[in-house]
Amino acid sequence: MNVQIVSVVFLPLIVVCSMGNDTHTEVRIAVLFSGFGSRLDVSQLKPAIDVAFDEVAERVDRGEFLNFTYTRYVRETVRDGPRIGVGLVADLVRDYDIHAVLGHPSSSEMYGIGDLVAHWNIPAITGAAITSELEDRTRYTTFTRTSMRSEAIGGFIVSILETYGWNLCTVFHTSGVFTLISDAIIGVLDGRDVINKPFSINLEPNVTVLLQEAQSISRSK
Ligand SMILES: *[C@@H]1O[C@H](CO)[C@@H](O)[C@H](O)[C@H]1NC(C)=O
Ligand SMILES: *[C@@H]1O[C@H](CO)[C@@H](O)[C@H](O)[C@H]1NC(C)=O
Repeated sequence: MNVQIVSVVFLPLIVVCSMGNDTHTEVRIAVLFSGFGSRLDVSQLKPAIDVAFDEVAERVDRGEFLNFTYTRYVRETVRDGPRIGVGLVADLVRDYDIHAVLGHPSSSEMYGIGDLVAHWNIPAITGAAITSELEDRTRYTTFTRTSMRSEAIGGFIVSILETYGWNLCTVFHTSGVFTLISDAIIGVLDGRDVINKPFSINLEPNVTVLLQEAQSISRSK
């Protein structure tokens, strides 16, 4: 996330919430992070968000944006614990009638949050949550990602294959969080006229062996 990205969130909000130049509007925003110490926690993401909010406030002061202030409600989820993102967002809507949601960075949290904000017609934006399960625009109608999307990486790889007329592809992948990307790539390849053979680096850590196996099924044996 960076300054421009968060500014992009505010611009539509200002248009929606403000009635005119002389009207002051308060925008209430939920900001959601993973639990402290986990990937994409408050220590990694909040500084950039702070800079973005400061920038927006300065542009209000300079008269470049309509007059509004914002209140942030920062919450952290607890992995495998009692604090799930969708519950935190539900509480914030009930208690503070929030207008928008920034985050959550994790795809698994974003499934529930994405459904809830669609139901309430509240905009949500995240700089991560890259999984292809979140592609469905008819389901996640108010949720936007500014990050790369793993599905798009799959599309990019397919376009390279198509450009060169290749129809055989080997995907080396690890387990863990990056399966979000490899699963999407393999899924996109499966849907096209491409034969793909995934190799797990976790099952065979010797990459030389993997390359030899891949070579044995490739055109130039
Ligand atoms: C915005 O509105 C508030 C409250 O009406 C006012 O105090 C403040 O000076 C205004 N700021 C700007 C930049 O117009
Ligand atoms: C990896 O496999 C190659 C080919 O079988 C072998 O020559 C090499 O010693 C192996 N490397 C390791 C670290 O086991």
